[in-house]
Amino acid sequence: MLAGLRDYEPGQELATATRLRREHPAELVSAALGMARLRQRAVAKFGAEDAYRMYFTPGGVEQATRASVAAHRARRFAELGVRSVADLCCGIGGDAIALARAGISVLAVDRSEETCEVVRANAAALGLGGLIEVRRADVADVDTSGYDAVFVDPARRGGRGRIFDPEAYSPPLSWAVEAARTARHAALKIAPGIPHEIIPAEAEAEWISDGGDVKEAVLWFGTGAPGARSATLLPGPYTLLGAGLPDPEPGPVGRYLYEPDGAVIRAHLVADVARQVGGRLIDPTIAYVTADKMRTTPYAAAYAITDVLPFNLKKLKAIVRERAIGVVVIKKRGSAVEPEELRRKLKPSGPNSCVIFLTRVAGAPSMLLGQPAAG
Ligand SMILES: C[S@@+](CC[C@H](N)C(=O)[O-])C[C@H]1O[C@@H](n2cnc3c(N)ncnc32)[C@H](O)[C@@H]1O
Repeated sequence: MLAGLRDYEPGQELATATRLRREHPAELVSAALGMARLRQRAVAKFGAEDAYRMYFTPGGVEQATRASVAAHRARRFAELGVRSVADLCCGIGGDAIALARAGISVLAVDRSEETCEVVRANAAALGLGGLIEVRRADVADVDTSGYDAVFVDPARRGGRGRIFDPEAYSPPLSWAVEAARTARHAALKIAPGIPHEIIPAEAEAEWISDGGDVKEAVLWFGTGAPGARSATLLPGPYTLLGAGLPDPEPGPVGRYLYEPDGAVIRAHLVADVARQVGGRLIDPTIAYVTADKMRTTPYAAAYAITDVLPFNLKKLKAIVRERAIGVVVIKKRGSAVEPEELRRKLKPSGPNSCVIFLTRVAGAPSMLLGQPAAG
């Protein structure tokens, strides 16, 4: 029945349920429809081919690592020579699956019975049962000494939504750090907004984005790079390793504006991108880099700037009208202006397009106009 629900339309739920109930018990039908909905949601993380073979719980889809990020992490573990990992807090198996596919044996631990059943079913459905051993336990009770590495992805959602305090994660970050310290190699998945000051000195911190969206940060232990900061951009993959540079000096807006990827910004590596493109900041507090030459980098989107003006709505409206701009992309950093409200006021119309940056230049509210720069 579940296989037949692959293309089911949520809008047709009642009709589908009525049809299925003619042949199946009502309870089974509602379980199948629930799973079909979860599979549809999971496609964005796992791709259709895997998502329609896997099983999920609502919280499990939400919290699972997307396949691209999990595969990147598994690759790094494999490069470290890791052959076995204790995946403490395995959830529905996003990471366990990627590790197994990298040829690594996994002990997948979760305290939820239902989640353990789901990860077991997923391992079997994907033909990875031989590499994934599932154990229902509290992570605190698991002896990880026989494993090459430990991976912890604590639950960061509670009854009242997302948890921001790392000590309120389950298990708390301090517990995960201690577990990492006892292992030869370890990785801890954490929220990308983690304050840099609470990162343990011996850890390497990596921020990961996929398709331009920052997904997570990872604290690596036992990689031989204590204190390192890096940003990895998927699908690339491109990894920028921080050189510990001081912030670049601010200066006037040049012909090009570079907008660093979110992972670069979170990793505090804007200075490294500025050095790559021979650029400077437009303001000491704003993560936009400017330069007079165009240099292609995967770590920042580049724009050719045509106008640099103090922020003025009347003036902007006039420009949009005179230049027949019908498509405006509004980006902002360090501005309180609401992009959608501004768009309504601008009433764009015409065949041309423009990117508008609402920001601060040397402290002054400014608007920069431009176009994506050809690489
Ligand atoms: C963020 S999810 C893991 C997601 C997983 N990495 C994936 O990609 O599917 C966290 C999981 O940790 C489990 N968990 C939380 N505290 C735990 C504990 N003390 N012992 C065992 N499991 C725990 C939760 O049941 C939940 O399934």
